[in-house]
Amino acid sequence: MAKLLLSTLLLALLHLLLGSRSDSLGEFCNFKKKISDKPTMINIGLVLSKLETKAPSNRFATASDGQGKERVYGLLQCRGDISPKDCSSCTSDAAKHVRHLCPDEADARIWFDSCFLRYNTDDFIGELDTRYGIFYWNVENVTEPERFAKELGDLMNNVKAKAVQPGNKGFGSGKIKFTQFVTIYGLVQCTQDLPKLQCAQCLSTAISNFGGGGYCDGKKGCRVLYSSCFVRFEIYPFFLPLSAYTGNEVHASQAVYDNLGN
Ligand SMILES: *[C@@H]1O[C@H](CO)[C@@H](O)[C@H](O)[C@H]1NC(C)=O
Repeated sequence: MAKLLLSTLLLALLHLLLGSRSDSLGEFCNFKKKISDKPTMINIGLVLSKLETKAPSNRFATASDGQGKERVYGLLQCRGDISPKDCSSCTSDAAKHVRHLCPDEADARIWFDSCFLRYNTDDFIGELDTRYGIFYWNVENVTEPERFAKELGDLMNNVKAKAVQPGNKGFGSGKIKFTQFVTIYGLVQCTQDLPKLQCAQCLSTAISNFGGGGYCDGKKGCRVLYSSCFVRFEIYPFFLPLSAYTGNEVHASQAVYDNLGN
């Protein structure tokens, strides 16, 4: 009986862990931009299936379909450290969820841990966009906040420099030892359509949220998700290659920054 209960609990836990992997971190449905015609709806479907086909091999794709006002532009960016297989399943999840969550919008975006998907009837490819942001932060405060901020600043500068190096496709990750027992892990990524200068600008804007009295100031971990880039740091490893978990993971809080007037 106890054994059965234990295995049921384990199954439930496993389900929870696996289940949470396909949950989105957030979405943005632009309620000011409703789909007003059937061709646009059809073109969204066509763009999504193109992205599903094209994205996994490069972890990135853009696509478009249709003519005139009904033309739809799409972009899919997978995280730089995941496999084509994981990119493929994230793309499918994203395409499915975004249409479910934003059924009537011609401007929709969805963020997952492993990928970001976006489409719009306006051409946004190559344009810097930090107007809408999602923030997650670890609710715990760091000890020695000043020294932490300095080490974190050094780490993020380093990781940002990596991301804009030729060949790195806007992706950078790294770590820095804070104490004997605590290591800070950082990761940044731009969407690959973004020119180098705009990528650096996006990352700087995103990283600035780690200090300056914002949500993430003095916290043990934070993610900032924009449409053109995202940045994250934690005091546990969260990117590949993954070393052993340290038990430093803690529950996070969330907020949304919306400068699109929604
Ligand atoms: C973290 O620090 C802030 C500001 O000093 C404080 O308001 C908050 O309660 C602290 N949070 C925790 C979890 O200790």
